[in-house]
Amino acid sequence: MRPTLSLNWAEIRYYLHMPNTVIKTAVFPVAGRGTRFLPVTKASPKEMLPIVDKPLIQYAVDEALSAGAETLVFITGSSKRAIEDHFDSDPELEAVLQAQGKQELLDALHGILPSWASCVYIRQPAPLGLGHAVLCARPVVGNAPFMVHLADDLIDAQVSCLKQMTEVHARYGGSVLGVQNVPKSDTDKYGIVSLEREVAPRVGRISHIVEKPKPDKAASTLAVVGRYLLSGSIFEDLAKIGKGAGGEIQLTDGIARLMQREAVYAFEFEGKRYDCGSKLGYLQATVEYALKHPSLGSHFGKYLKEIAATL
Ligand code: G1P
Repeated sequence: MRPTLSLNWAEIRYYLHMPNTVIKTAVFPVAGRGTRFLPVTKASPKEMLPIVDKPLIQYAVDEALSAGAETLVFITGSSKRAIEDHFDSDPELEAVLQAQGKQELLDALHGILPSWASCVYIRQPAPLGLGHAVLCARPVVGNAPFMVHLADDLIDAQVSCLKQMTEVHARYGGSVLGVQNVPKSDTDKYGIVSLEREVAPRVGRISHIVEKPKPDKAASTLAVVGRYLLSGSIFEDLAKIGKGAGGEIQLTDGIARLMQREAVYAFEFEGKRYDCGSKLGYLQATVEYALKHPSLGSHFGKYLKEIAATL
């Protein structure tokens, strides 16, 4: 017998007018060379730097999967092959672990990527900027809304940052940017937004966005920190804009154009963000994630107390 679905008029009206809220594609711009971490990043990607026992890019993928992503698009460049290897299966290694009866390690390998997720790798032909990297994903994304995740920005949250943002998107539609207040002296490291009005606690409609303004020129201290849910129509803008701050094609400038047609919201997510693009932020994340690690945490905590006493 065929399954049947019965809906009343109110439900039918709800489904007919429901915005297209499900976002299935996540884009990971990973082409940057990570010069701040040289020499370690000379031959291996900065996104493969570990936080305890997982590389940064694995945290990024886990976050996107938790928010409903199924297609993972990596925009890569030179020296980035280790990322493809990480998300690929490795039958030889699996056979060795199997023969040795190391089930826990096998499970860890199998947990890297669920079977329903698929990876697409697109090479950015030249380092022309974040906006250009995102534009490279157009053939895969098409016109659908999509996530952008910058793996340098690691966010520890009870409900993942992208998941929180998909809830905002489901409610208000448009595009949603993850934002956080930063010290005034740091505005020239971020895309800075100004709000037209608050639409709900922690959610505001953006009136302006500027890439890396000097502290004395910045209209606010609300900074975009590496999480975006974007309307597919931003590709039209990214294809048209020229070079912006730092001589690069900036995602921020594409968003500024998009805002002239469509709503873009800033969302102050709940969670702690670590700037793993800086050595200090990376070390802070390493220490705090190690303290929370199920099998390592208590030993590491004791060790930290001992050495702190000697400082
Ligand atoms: C990029 C974006 C910037 C954003 C930042 C978040 O800058 O261009 O708007 O605020 O990421 O980390 P980048 O850090 O690549 O210079």
